[in-house]
Amino acid sequence: MSGELRHMLRDDDVSHDEQRQILELGMRFRGNRFHHRPFGGPQAVAVIFDKPSTRTRSSFSIGVAELGGYPLVIDKSGSQLGRGEPVADTARVLTRMASGIVWRTFGQDRVEEMAANATVPVVNALTDEFHPCQVLADFLTLAQFRGGVDALSGMSIAYVGDSSNNMANSYLLAGATAGMDVRVAGPNGFLPDPSIVADARRIAETTGGSVLVTTDPEEAVSGVDCVFTDTWVSMGEEGEYEIRSKPFWDYQVNDRLMSYAKDDALFQHCLPAYRGKEVTSSVIDGPRSVVWDEAENRLHAQKALLTWLIGRQRGDDSLLV
Ligand code: CP
Ligand code: NVA
Repeated sequence: MSGELRHMLRDDDVSHDEQRQILELGMRFRGNRFHHRPFGGPQAVAVIFDKPSTRTRSSFSIGVAELGGYPLVIDKSGSQLGRGEPVADTARVLTRMASGIVWRTFGQDRVEEMAANATVPVVNALTDEFHPCQVLADFLTLAQFRGGVDALSGMSIAYVGDSSNNMANSYLLAGATAGMDVRVAGPNGFLPDPSIVADARRIAETTGGSVLVTTDPEEAVSGVDCVFTDTWVSMGEEGEYEIRSKPFWDYQVNDRLMSYAKDDALFQHCLPAYRGKEVTSSVIDGPRSVVWDEAENRLHAQKALLTWLIGRQRGDDSLLV
């Protein structure tokens, strides 16, 4: 068996078929928390946080333990990374001890540098640019409620709000990879980087998906299967609260905006949520919201992702199903 080192740094690091394989594996973990235990011994996965976290911290910690491994959780304040030790040196050290590296940090260049110097899989647990683990969980939630992984291709989704952030970018790339009709709406000045939109369009051409970027929230939401939003002020932007809130009021997900979506459309939010800002309580606490399943699915999706990456590295196809 010959293995292949793979990383998950951005959503398009996997192909359409590979994304499906990971999500199918996620569905199996949903049904049986111990579907695979690839670690079966005291192997560690380093899980590093340069930013705060509740869901990512708990789901990776518990997930690695359930896979039979040991989660070594490292906070920026308690590590030499936080004192300026080079990323490459950290990668060289961790790669000799751990079976995987999961990292939440700032610039995408940092996880890329980690991966370039590691000989174990590196997973992006959120950067300023992307949050691929979250979107795997979100798509697993769609599969859970809307007819399985086969139903994802051709589905329409809309993300409304700060469309210049990591979640918008990840929905564009992951949605195009899945073959979805992806729509993203935000105010001028808070739209996605054109290079990411171009990447998503290029992928959509191969999967039968489509991509719409607009400043019109009603156009984006019209007839979709699921509406997503996120905070208007991401981690690291706390000082911009005043300037960031004003442009977004027309993009609040409320009952009026949801009425443009399909009658049975779902609502998802990566959390943490700010009720009365990007979403009203009537929506996030209402009957269309599946945010608690979405949060739980972080656990199943990430266990699937880690198992898949380990299966690829070991060349062990039995771990891919
Ligand atoms: N959605 C998400 O990543 O949550 P945390 O910031 O709590 O990890
Ligand atoms: N866009 C948000 C996502 C939090 C999970 C942030 O980066 O803070």
